[in-house]
Amino acid sequence: MAESFKLDLTQRPRRLRRTASLRQLVTETVLRPADFIAPLFVIDGKSAPQPIASMPGVSRFAINDLVKECRALAKLGVPAVALFPKLDARLKDEEGTAALHEDALILRAVRAVKKAVPELTIMTDIALDPYTTHGHDGVLTPARDDVDNDRTVEILVKMAVLHARAGVDLVAPSDMMDGRVGAIRQALDAAGCTGTGIMAYSVKFASAYYGPFRDAVGSATAAGTHLLSKATYQLDPANRRTAMTELALDEAEGADIVMVKPAGPYLDIIRDVRNATNKPVAAYQVSGEYAQLQAAAKLGWLDLARTRHESLLAIKRAGADMILTYFAKEMATELKR
Ligand code: PBG
Repeated sequence: MAESFKLDLTQRPRRLRRTASLRQLVTETVLRPADFIAPLFVIDGKSAPQPIASMPGVSRFAINDLVKECRALAKLGVPAVALFPKLDARLKDEEGTAALHEDALILRAVRAVKKAVPELTIMTDIALDPYTTHGHDGVLTPARDDVDNDRTVEILVKMAVLHARAGVDLVAPSDMMDGRVGAIRQALDAAGCTGTGIMAYSVKFASAYYGPFRDAVGSATAAGTHLLSKATYQLDPANRRTAMTELALDEAEGADIVMVKPAGPYLDIIRDVRNATNKPVAAYQVSGEYAQLQAAAKLGWLDLARTRHESLLAIKRAGADMILTYFAKEMATELKR
């Protein structure tokens, strides 16, 4: 009989992976309900929740259902929601004028949620894409060959003040125009809204992973058929240094929280940002990241509960302090068990 093979090892890292309780003791990253921000879509009227085909499990809510959903989230320990309006096509125009209506859907939604669930943090997107017929995040130049940066910022600033006055805790400019964070900070302060914070979409890439979201808010035109690309304002997915430039600008202009978006395919950027700033870092697990897990799970190719947990754990491990994710409710439910 051959002599049994034995390694003479001092270090055997597997010792600490031997049992579940040992593994628990040495785990470095833990997810909790308070890590999550739930993005929610809101519609006008009193209709039943509208499912979004490319985002199974996600619906657009009328305000009364939105309030119920927010209450449920708060009860589960989710501290924040990010609200996105889906407008009737009739209300859209070239200039996105409905963004500045005094009784805009988003403002009514914010007031209703604040009143019913005051402990919940509310953030809203500052960008024109739900309001424009062309689906761009800003207004176009007369030649319609570019998004007019400064004229867009002029509108976004007014929008941010309206949202702040409606009770939003954090305005979240997602438009990627130059100089908008500073201009919004100044306008908020001038309006006496010094307590309203800015969560800046600082590092937002021109990503193909936003497809399902554009179905959800009906802003797909700019992404596909229109000649002008969102790549003229969102970042090139190939670039890391540009991300650092945008981060530095938003910090200098007064961002309270900085965001990286998308999250899963950009873990290196989340880590870079984490190392470069002392501000809290948010990451947005976007609609396409959600849809791909849902689709694979539906085909029986991936275990949904385990992959969603792992995908979010990886985002937190990379350096995110908080994660916007369409899995927020399921995760909080699971983590509470
Ligand atoms: C637009 C906005 C987008 C998302 C959040 N805000 C889409 C876009 O830039 O076209 C995407 C979110 C997601 O995909 O989940 N201001």
